[in-house]
Amino acid sequence: MSQRDDGNEWSADDYDGGHAFVFEYGEGVVDLLDPEPGERVLDLGCGTGHLTASIAESGAAVVGLDADRAMVGEAARSYPDLRFVQGDARQFAFREPFDAVFSNAALHWIHEQDAVLDSVADALRPGGRFVAELGGAGNVASIVGAVEDVAAERSYEVENPWYFPSVGEYASLLETHGFEVRYATLFDRPTELDDGEAGLAGWLGMFGDGLLGPVPEDEREALVSTVEDRLRDELFSDGTWTADYRRLRVVARCVAD
Ligand code: BEZ
Repeated sequence: MSQRDDGNEWSADDYDGGHAFVFEYGEGVVDLLDPEPGERVLDLGCGTGHLTASIAESGAAVVGLDADRAMVGEAARSYPDLRFVQGDARQFAFREPFDAVFSNAALHWIHEQDAVLDSVADALRPGGRFVAELGGAGNVASIVGAVEDVAAERSYEVENPWYFPSVGEYASLLETHGFEVRYATLFDRPTELDDGEAGLAGWLGMFGDGLLGPVPEDEREALVSTVEDRLRDELFSDGTWTADYRRLRVVARCVAD
């Protein structure tokens, strides 16, 4: 278990075991990247490296970067032929420019997107592409809303710790940082959680440290149980919880020198 400065405690084993949908859905983003043999690609926020490996299958020379030491260690153990480095998406630099920077389900953990996009633009060759998916505006709004309501009833003020931009907001930001936006879309992607009845509690346990931050540890189980009661009609059916994910996908070219 480790903690990086996004406020969440990360477990590489839990991530791979109970939340494999994160990288399984990410295969669609690899398709959007469409990596070519010989291209240099950076996988930003690579987690346990499964998508890094998938990109490498195309013959691209890929490097995975993640802020979490345990994730990077797990990735390096699983894929010893690939290069993984620990680093901060807000300030990284490589000697050789990349043809593409790829990112799946990582950037919504970082509010300092100006710093991220500066680093991405610096890392790309002129004309290089940035292909990313992150939670978009309205992502997990039902879950966040229910946690906010139940926490407020217990006199705790919690707030959405994530960065879920709209198409307009993120496209403008990309332009400000020297990118030309070729594709941007926001879409609903209801996402079935693993573990049946325990799925929502498991999701909050894995990802919800920032959201539940103001709630004392010994009250969290009861709070989550009330959240489950509130959301059951909307998000639970046939023994499975479905999170109300909304994804923002972008493809942008670096046009700055
Ligand atoms: C997401 O992939 O949209 C997400 C994952 C964990 C927490 C919040 C959002």
